[in-house]
Amino acid sequence: MPKSKLFPRKHTNPFTWCGAIICAIIAIAVIITGIVVFVGYLVIRPKVPFISVTYAHLDRFDYDQASLLTTQVTIVVKFENDNARAHASFYDASFIAGFHGVEIAELVADPFDVGKNSSVELNYLVESTPIPLGPEVGDIADMSIKENYVTLDLKGTARTRWRVWILGSVKFWLHMNCGLHFFMNGSSTDLYCSTRSK
Ligand SMILES: *[C@@H]1O[C@H](CO)[C@@H](O)[C@H](O)[C@H]1NC(C)=O
Ligand SMILES: *[C@@H]1O[C@H](CO)[C@@H](O)[C@H](O)[C@H]1NC(C)=O
Repeated sequence: MPKSKLFPRKHTNPFTWCGAIICAIIAIAVIITGIVVFVGYLVIRPKVPFISVTYAHLDRFDYDQASLLTTQVTIVVKFENDNARAHASFYDASFIAGFHGVEIAELVADPFDVGKNSSVELNYLVESTPIPLGPEVGDIADMSIKENYVTLDLKGTARTRWRVWILGSVKFWLHMNCGLHFFMNGSSTDLYCSTRSK
């Protein structure tokens, strides 16, 4: 058997050529798409919508002899979309207002849209039924009143979704975890409460 039979010099099949050309075209298309998406991203600079507390007022904070805490807080939460070219929607929003680990109330919002470059503010009147406090948290409540400085915490998450040109729909979790500080006259102080990283 001649050796050339074992290693035949085949002419490249026209179908193989076709396949190679198609592969090359697809590869170039992928590269161009990547560049377009990247440039588009740089041009549009999609901004993650965010949530922040713009106003807070402690309407009531009573801690009585029976170790019951009765409190009422007004909180204004702003849902902000800084994207000039995209609507954003917020959904699954749920925040817990608490006092040193004791839950006072839950703040929720139905899903809603925020237009391009705009924001929506929601007013919450957070009211607790009288909550019995354990001795430790009760001491903190007593001390807060004496020191004229009450800290409530606001924790929770929301989701946001917005369209970024050809990148399609982008979804994000937003996390809120902050302290709301008040004087006993109700005024808030050092109000910095946002899902945007500092
Ligand atoms: C977005 O709104 C702000 C004011 O709320 C305005 O100053 C700014 O020019 C607006 N940006 C665009 C791109 O429309
Ligand atoms: C509340 O009390 C703080 C400090 O005690 C004070 O700085 C603030 O002006 C007061 N606010 C009002 C509305 O009286």
